[in-house]
Formats: sequence, C-alpha cells, structure tokens
Amino acid sequence: MSSSSFYQSAPSQPPHAFISANVATAISLDTVMPLPRTQALKWKPLRRRRAYEFYFNVVKRGMFIWEMERLHKIYGPIIRVTPHEVHIKDPNYYDEIYASSKRRRQKDPLLVAQFDLEGSAFSSVSPEEHRQKRSQLEKYFSKQSVTNIEYLIHENIDKLDQHFKRAYESHKAVSLDAGFAGLTSDVIYQYAYGFNSGNLDHEDFNEKVRDGLNGLFKFAHVSFFFPVIQTVMKSLPLWLLAKIDPFAYALMCQKADLLHRTKEFLGGKSSGSKPHPIMEIITGPSMPEHLREAERLNNEGFSLIIGGTETTARSLAIAAFRLLSNGHIKTKLREELLTVMPTPDSRPTWSQLEQLPYLSAVVWETLRVSTGIASRSPRVAPTEALVYKNYTIPPGTRVSETNYFVLTDPEIFPDPHVFDPERWLRAAAKGERLDRYMVNFGKGTRICVGMNLAYAELFLVLATFVRRFDMELFETTEKDIAFARDFGTPYPDEGNTSVRAIVTAVVKE
Ligand code: HEM
Repeated sequence: MSSSSFYQSAPSQPPHAFISANVATAISLDTVMPLPRTQALKWKPLRRRRAYEFYFNVVKRGMFIWEMERLHKIYGPIIRVTPHEVHIKDPNYYDEIYASSKRRRQKDPLLVAQFDLEGSAFSSVSPEEHRQKRSQLEKYFSKQSVTNIEYLIHENIDKLDQHFKRAYESHKAVSLDAGFAGLTSDVIYQYAYGFNSGNLDHEDFNEKVRDGLNGLFKFAHVSFFFPVIQTVMKSLPLWLLAKIDPFAYALMCQKADLLHRTKEFLGGKSSGSKPHPIMEIITGPSMPEHLREAERLNNEGFSLIIGGTETTARSLAIAAFRLLSNGHIKTKLREELLTVMPTPDSRPTWSQLEQLPYLSAVVWETLRVSTGIASRSPRVAPTEALVYKNYTIPPGTRVSETNYFVLTDPEIFPDPHVFDPERWLRAAAKGERLDRYMVNFGKGTRICVGMNLAYAELFLVLATFVRRFDMELFETTEKDIAFARDFGTPYPDEGNTSVRAIVTAVVKE
C-alpha cells in the first residue's frame, strides 16, 4: 500500500470532511467521521489496530508522524488518523486534550500495552488509578527532593569530567551521547534502586547497556501492533533470546536484575544507602497492600529508568551539538557562567544556575529542539464531548496532538529549526508567554513525573560542560542528531543519536 493509494481510494472525502459540525455527542465516531477505504483491509487484527499506521510505522519504520504532517498540510488542523483516533494540530488546543484533573481524561489502553509496564502509574488507564499510583512517586521528584539529591548529579558530573580530561590528554574522540546517557542512567539507578549502574566507571561508558532501552524503543511500534511478542519473549530462556535478539536479551537481563532487587526490598532487605532509594521506600508498609506486588512495583521502578535515561541524555547531546556548532552561543554562555562559577571547578547549585537568564534560555531552547517524546499519546474524554472549532468529537474518542508539531510551529517559534536561545529572551522582554507552548514534558495530570530531575541534570551538566571544556565536533553532522524516525523518542535515519567530539582544551581559569 502506498500513501497515494490511500487517498486515491477516497479522493473526494478527506478525513476532516467526514466530521459533522456540532453533532450530537451520543453518536459514534464512525457515524460522524467514517474512514476512507483502508478499512476494507481483510486481516482483522490489523484492521482493528490501524493498518495505515502499521504501514508507516512498522513497514516504513517510524514514519507515520511525517505522514500525519503531510495529511494536516492537505486537510487542515483536524484529521482522523486511525479508526478510533482524531489528531489535532493546533498548539492552542493542547490544554483541552491534556487537561488538568478537573476534567476526566483516560489514557489509551492500546498504547500502554506496548511498553510492558503493567500496573505502573504510567500504564494506568483511568485517572483514579493513575492518581493513586502516581501519588506514591511524585513526592520523590518535587523540586525539594531533587535539590536534596543534587550531590548525586555532581558525583557523576565529576566522573564525566575525568573522562573528558583523559580524552583531552589522549586526543581520542569522546562519545558525548554515551557519556550523557551513562550519567543520567547512573543517577536514576542510584536514586531509584540504590546501586550505581557503573556506566561512568567504564572507559566506553558501558555503551552496550543502552542497547536494551534503544531496543525497547525501536521495537515499540511492532510491540504496539503485536503485544503478544513480548509475552513470547518473556517466556524464552535467556540463552535462546541472546541468540535471537541481543537487544531484547539486554532488556530482559536488565529487567530480571531489577526484579530480583525489588523482591529483596519486599523481603525487607535494606540497600544500606542514604537516603533510601525510592524502591526501598515504596516496597515498604507505606504502599497499600493491594499495590505491593513485586512485578507491579518493579514496573514502577523500570518506568523511572526508561523515562530517566535516554530522554534527558538525548537533550544533553543535542545541546552539546548545537553549542559546539554555534561558538558565539557557547562564548556568551560561558561569560554568563563566570558570575556563579568564578573558577572552572566551582560547583554552583541548580538553584543558582536557574537564576541565569541566558543559561535558562539555552536549556529551554534545547528542550524545544530536542522534542523529548516523539510519538503522540492519545487521551480519551470518557464523558465529555470535546469541541474543536465547529467540530464536536464524541465522548470516548481517542484524541491526540504531537509534541513536535507544537514545538516547531512557525507561528509560535519563527524559524523553528534554528537553535536560537535569544528567542526566549526576546519573548520575555515583550511579555509573551512562550513557555505555554513548551509541551516537552506533556501537560495536565500525566505531565512527566521526572521533570525536575531532568531540569536539574540539564542545568548542572551544561554549566560544567561549557565552563570547563573546549571541544570540536568529530565526524558528527546534522544527520547524526536529526529527528528522522519516531520510535517513541526521535531517532536519526540510521542508528542512534550520536555526537562525538575532540576535547581541544581544559579551561584553566
Ligand atoms: C528531557 C527529559 C524528559 C522528557 C522530554 C520527558 C517527557 C515525558 C513526557 C512527554 C511524558 C508524558 C507521557 C504521556 O503523556 O504518556 C513523560 C512521562 C513520564 N516521565 Fe518523563 N521526560 C523526561 C525525563 C524524565 C525523567 C528524568 C524521568 C525519571 C524519573 C521521567 C519519568 C517519567 C515517568 C515515570 C512518566 C510517566 C508519568 C505518568 O504517567 O504519570 N522522565 N515524560
């Protein structure tokens, strides 16, 4: 099936034209917005699970996002992208879909199945279940809690610093993306499970450890359509899995190890670390009895590992690429940093760094251009008919926006693909609230629980990186960091996001 054949089949009926204006809320989406003829597909499981999306995301590998973009260009801001889902491309409507707790929103059950995190807050469908589970986690990620573990971030920055200094002495290229992923991973493992995953203790940052998570992401579309594959994989002996799929093997080993640790906590074993890791606390008596099942708790912990590693690391890698490609931005930033880092070894706090307007602008612009989560995350308003312009979307319909489209909307962010931290300063001077459109972390009740940790890591790591080192990009071009494919997070056309550099100087004063 080609993209054109899809529309050749129903040229006079573009998706948005099927939505009747102001329809009664009780009627189904099929009635108000029938699908074009892809629905004639005979294979039932695929038909139910969105054949068009299957083609672009599984066969063509992570390309449905660009097809949606193409369709929006033709048919306008509201289209029906799958049998059961309406997609809206309008930054000003985002808050209606990803709403606060005053308005009931459910998560899409099809979507949650793909990450195999059953029972976790991330995977809960109903807002009530989500609230109960999330409340057990979010206190560990408040601003105060993250400030309390800043020392952990600093400890790992010190290790990364040693790597960069050794790379300077040896003149060897250093993999910044791997170094940053080593750091974010070591921090979240220590905080969540109480042990250091030791990536930064390895000369190559233990890059292989990322294979499991990258494998999980790259497999996400396949497991969305065929969640049963995950069950099959889990039932295979590890030695066999290692032969069939090394990525899945890496992931399973990682999960099995963490499950073992979760069970030990449940059995009363202490990690011995202070403060106690999150898993040690949430496996304790404060967790209601019916939520204290080992697999569920481990999935809760694993969602922190998944959420807390590649997303922030990729943002750091993109920031490094942009700063090394734009010397004037780096120079300006270093000048500002001198105010709180009088010597290269100064150790500013996150709170001090947040006061710096230019660094803050660099962090915001980094988050904007690095996108965060690439895939859409539909919400369902079970009892409310959502009204978009003169269209009424029946209750129970999956509705989504795509963060990337908001973050690169040229009406809000002119020249959206240019890395321009000054845009934030210009907007602030004019009293414009650009931050309203910063949807990297999502919005509403399901907003990223680890947002403060991500901010703290971004501020602290970037400040050190810029204040202490001069680097040049090594064999790294735009295509190595480009967002070409959507596998949950953005990926380049081939391989993983990769930024390599040569350390040309260690700043002395
Ligand atoms: C730049 C870094 C990050 C970005 C861009 C990001 C983005 C997001 C987004 C967009 C969501 C909402 C997903 C949805 O609607 O389904 C989310 C949820 C989540 N994130 Fe993050 N995240 C980042 C860092 C982190 C960190 C450091 C952690 C570790 C603690 C984390 C853990 C989670 C968890 C557990 C959820 C699920 C929350 C819930 O459903 O209540 N994330 N993140």
